[in-house]
Amino acid sequence: SPPAIIAPSILSADFGNLGKACIDTMDHGADWLHVDIMDGHFVPNMTFGAPIVTKIRERVAPPGQPLGKGTFDCHMMIAEPHRWVKDFKSAGCDLYCFHYEAAINSTAAETPFDKSDERTSPIKLIRYIHSLGMKAGIAIKPSTPVDVLWPILATESADERPDMVLVMTVEPGFGGQSFMASELPKVSALRARYPDLNIEVDGGLSEKTIDQAADAGANVIVAGSAVFGAKDPAEVIRKLREAVER
Ligand code: DX5
Ligand code: ZN
Repeated sequence: SPPAIIAPSILSADFGNLGKACIDTMDHGADWLHVDIMDGHFVPNMTFGAPIVTKIRERVAPPGQPLGKGTFDCHMMIAEPHRWVKDFKSAGCDLYCFHYEAAINSTAAETPFDKSDERTSPIKLIRYIHSLGMKAGIAIKPSTPVDVLWPILATESADERPDMVLVMTVEPGFGGQSFMASELPKVSALRARYPDLNIEVDGGLSEKTIDQAADAGANVIVAGSAVFGAKDPAEVIRKLREAVER
């Protein structure tokens, strides 16, 4: 598997002190910051948009190496994900991770991909994200079978290939939910076929659930409440990393 990457979800941070919370989290040993963007439409909750990402990016550090330390991993739980690619690039997002379900259901007239082609629409969105200089991730909800990803991952061209797959281990929308071990066969199936792929898991990850996720082959670990709810967040980040590296 590729290296362990710990990406605390700032959804559980103190939004009144968000810049400071992000700086502290990096100091505690985080690799990436997982930034949950919700529009109250794709998911039944709202967070924030590009203006706030711009400001926390300014506080934390300018973008560095692609997928390197301090990567802003923007998890776009939004409808019509193609509409916000440029704004998030300007805000300093490094990795734009959209939902498969949102990409295939896009209805906007200005969509840059052919919405009639359910198989290739996500591929065209990935190409668009890459053309603006960001890495591209594709996320699937618990109700979406992993099989939808095979034609996307099989693409010949690097421009069209996702840099990461996110397997949701809760229903997207809220922090603090219970881990769904039922989603791990998706991770195992992805890892069996793609030994070098970045595979992210998100939802309910903690010291209690990390071993199962790591055994299945996940290497990018999101944790919100487990990190921000801890007395010693650095210790939690270290333990999550050790479990993946074991
Ligand atoms: C849920 C978000 C997650 C969330 C995880 O929709 O995508 O990133 O913050 O929170 P925990 O780790 O508390 O389950
Ligand atoms: Zn998330």
